[in-house]
Amino acid sequence: MNRTLTIVGLSYCLLHLSLSTAISAPPDANYDEAKVPEYTLPDPLVAADGASVDDPAEWISKRRPEILELFKTHVYGRSPDAPKRLQYELTSIDRQALGGKATRKEIAIKLGDAPNAPSMNLLLYLPNDVSKPVPVFLGLNFKGNHTIHSDPGITLSEVWSRPSKGRAGEKKRGSEKSRGTSASRWPVETIIDRGYGLGTIYYGDIDPDFHDGFKNGVHPHHDKHESAERPADAWGSIAAWAWGLSRAMDYFERDDDVDQKKVAVLGHSRLGKTSLWAGATDPRFALVISNDSGCGGAALSRRRFGEKVKRINTSFPHWFCGNFDKYNDNEAALPVDQHMLIALIAPRPVYIASAAEDQWADPRGEFLSGLHADPVYRLLGTDGIATKEMPKVDQPSHSAISYHVRTGKHDLTAFDWGQYLDRADTIFQGSATPAK
Ligand code: GCU
Repeated sequence: MNRTLTIVGLSYCLLHLSLSTAISAPPDANYDEAKVPEYTLPDPLVAADGASVDDPAEWISKRRPEILELFKTHVYGRSPDAPKRLQYELTSIDRQALGGKATRKEIAIKLGDAPNAPSMNLLLYLPNDVSKPVPVFLGLNFKGNHTIHSDPGITLSEVWSRPSKGRAGEKKRGSEKSRGTSASRWPVETIIDRGYGLGTIYYGDIDPDFHDGFKNGVHPHHDKHESAERPADAWGSIAAWAWGLSRAMDYFERDDDVDQKKVAVLGHSRLGKTSLWAGATDPRFALVISNDSGCGGAALSRRRFGEKVKRINTSFPHWFCGNFDKYNDNEAALPVDQHMLIALIAPRPVYIASAAEDQWADPRGEFLSGLHADPVYRLLGTDGIATKEMPKVDQPSHSAISYHVRTGKHDLTAFDWGQYLDRADTIFQGSATPAK
């Protein structure tokens, strides 16, 4: 998603700029490695009682649950259980999509038990002429299912507009004109040709991306608190989007065309933060991919490089839980840092990707999260991260914790997808170090 900054000039004119990171940054953003403060990261392998964790069973039964709890309490908030009953409806199917190479299904999945609970619409492409079930990539999209490909058979999503000039955000059917406008981020044919399925959902189906006190989207259908004030650990929007991804996984468990043991969850930017939280909270995701996720995603908060906790909580007050505000300009007090989010995914493979010009998302901080999750991955019997040095631009490093920083800007590109597909081939066709 483009970052937009409004600059009020001396002549009182308003300029809307579509930005590269350099100009999106507020004046106090640090882009100088020399100015990164000294910091000490919490040790993922030291439990709350001070005992060191040195066997896998202890990690699984003791330390991992502690860390998960800390992230729920202080960062993303506490999500509800899955609906009691999975309710879904196949709303369309075309077995000759994309010139005959794929089957396209659309499935409406209800996000609650109550009759008035909202539904999300999963768009699913599956390759034809392969033995089923197939591995699938699953990711949320920013602008509606119909924007990921020009295929005229995709139902136009209802898309939220943001509130502006006193007008509330509203939902409107996407236009014919907007079909395929995000296609550069979704190489559907390539994915299909390589034998994978692709599932995607418009993130606004789960929760619209603006702050309205959690009155829209899934929150009001699950929030049980009676006090007027939301609990400080109530789930924010990132947690809601991740919860929606788990509901798609519930559906995959019922679809015989999908290999439910081979589902990769992927997301870009705020949706990369989301895919990491989905991977941390739902062990059914077999591969977790974070594309340029930055602050509140893969980047270490304590580095205060590019986007900081205070900035993200100010610009996007609905993304995290209320408690996260306590760490505005106070990162050292966080009981976790984002390397522990990566560690929660272990031993399942994770892929962290950055873009060289995306300094706002702190590529080095994203790499370091992977590096500092390595001891947990190794404890659990994987090959961890393959390098202690940050890989050079366009030189991916693949292992249980994969990383690359590619040339270019904040985006999800063909290069990124090429790496994810290669990595999925290795993992899902069996030549990766098996997770124990
Ligand atoms: C903003 C925000 C980032 C986020 C990005 C996006 O730039 O500051 O944290 O990742 O939007 O989602 O596109």
